[in-house]
Amino acid sequence: MSNEDTREYFNTVATQWDEMRQQFFGEGVRVAAIRAAEISPGAIVADVGTGTGFLSEKALAVGARVIGIDSSEEMLAETRRKFAGRSFEARAGDVDSLPLETGEVDAALANMVLHHAPNPPNAIREMARTLKPGGKLVITDADTHEHEWLRTDQLDRWLGFERADIARWFEDAGLIDVAVGDTNEICSPTAKCGERAAITIFIASGRKAG
Ligand SMILES: C[S@@+](CC[C@H](N)C(=O)[O-])C[C@H]1O[C@@H](n2cnc3c(N)ncnc32)[C@H](O)[C@@H]1O
Repeated sequence: MSNEDTREYFNTVATQWDEMRQQFFGEGVRVAAIRAAEISPGAIVADVGTGTGFLSEKALAVGARVIGIDSSEEMLAETRRKFAGRSFEARAGDVDSLPLETGEVDAALANMVLHHAPNPPNAIREMARTLKPGGKLVITDADTHEHEWLRTDQLDRWLGFERADIARWFEDAGLIDVAVGDTNEICSPTAKCGERAAITIFIASGRKAG
């Protein structure tokens, strides 16, 4: 599958994404992510693969200035509509080459995006690049699973991740205080054939030294 296939898929589902997402996972994911990011009012936060702004909404609520980045223009159109007049900027871009300066943000967040990334270690390195010294990277995503149909139904590139790999990729990206743990949340998509998955969701965090 190509980046273009992924972009097309998410363009197609953008107007339904809020409803779809509610069937996949719940509030606990973003509560855990925002807490781990230690966002102060006025902090600059990148929500990478923002979709319709699930994490952005919560970051705005704690007083952050949010940059939502996505490769899908239709997703970004949803966020522009939803957050009009708020401290939110939508930027089109790819997780492998983010439209952010080095050291631009206090926190970078990515929920359920890494399993769409062509090269996850590179995506982590790229997100780490954008952090200010002391800034935090927080990623929430699926643990490894065997639901192959997610590749065709929802264009997942990776069937989740081993937590040890995630920790190593954070460390290889130069991050310190790396931790990978449970969100205590389950991702539960339903296949076109009717099968329902129940996939645990991890939370990974790390800090840029300095
Ligand atoms: C499963 S959705 C998650 C959206 C949002 N983070 C949420 O929690 O609702 C994945 C999002 O990542 C975006 N995406 C996928 N591949 C991407 C890439 N290579 N670069 C940037 N965004 C990407 C998709 O367009 C989509 O909005």
